[in-house]
Amino acid sequence: MTTLFEPAYAKLNLTLDVLGKREDGYHDLKSVMQTISLRDDVEIDIGTGKPWKLICDKEGIPCDERNHAWMAAKVYFDTIDKDPDGLEIRITKRIPAEAGLGGGSADAAAVLRALNRHYGYPLSIPALAELGASVGSDVPFCVMGGTAVAEGRGDRLRKLPEMPDCIFVICKPDFSVSTAQLYAKLDETVIAKHPDHNAMESAILAGDLAGVAQNLYNVFDPVVTADHLELNYIKSIFNSYGSLNQQMTGSGSAVFCMVTEFEFAAVICNMLRENYPQVFIAKPVYF
Ligand code: C5P
Repeated sequence: MTTLFEPAYAKLNLTLDVLGKREDGYHDLKSVMQTISLRDDVEIDIGTGKPWKLICDKEGIPCDERNHAWMAAKVYFDTIDKDPDGLEIRITKRIPAEAGLGGGSADAAAVLRALNRHYGYPLSIPALAELGASVGSDVPFCVMGGTAVAEGRGDRLRKLPEMPDCIFVICKPDFSVSTAQLYAKLDETVIAKHPDHNAMESAILAGDLAGVAQNLYNVFDPVVTADHLELNYIKSIFNSYGSLNQQMTGSGSAVFCMVTEFEFAAVICNMLRENYPQVFIAKPVYF
């Protein structure tokens, strides 16, 4: 039996635009995405000689074939046409669920990366990302990691240079948002403002942190904030203690801000932690 270890990093959407509904029911989007140091840990035993098993240290996460990590392993072995002779996946969860941080997708991508490394890289990274798309829309980005523009369903990726260094503070409020319902709601909404992707890409290329911060924008943010005004409270705390800018990530409900110094991040955490236990400090990550 062999045991594999792989970190499963969360993602933030620095920008997120929804361009229209597709014939397959999904939406075309455009997003600048960033891997961050907030992470789950994934361990995989290959060759247990027993039926497949998934263990997660957090309640409320499905521990069977509904889990994206399990789905990723299944699709990987089907593709390379191998039988692992028993598999056990253990996930240590730190990324909050239903937050817009890509937790389930990160776990799935970690499984794909770890298995592909173990079997001597039979699939290229683009092929692995394509496989990930059958598991979930954010999995291709989580396979690739770093800073990238995602288009289409989230499956067309273009790598960008590393973003200028900074610190993120992320706060996950108690409520959750259904991604499918939010996309449906957006279909009935006139999108008043869109992110400026040219400006965001230029700022990243120039290493201009203030420019990156200025161009954070997610079209889901006003839709979710309209129903959950406490997001404005969290953002006002960010804003009062050194945030360059703040925004919701993905389909929420987590919001994040960017700061230049750890001291600002620590103060923001202290100010929020009493009401919001799920506050995290993270950095951009590259692998
Ligand atoms: O692919 P994933 O499971 O992450 O998507 C969750 C839901 O979000 C989908 O069922 C779909 O309703 C919506 N979605 C979408 N267009 C995308 C990504 C997700 O409509 N590009």
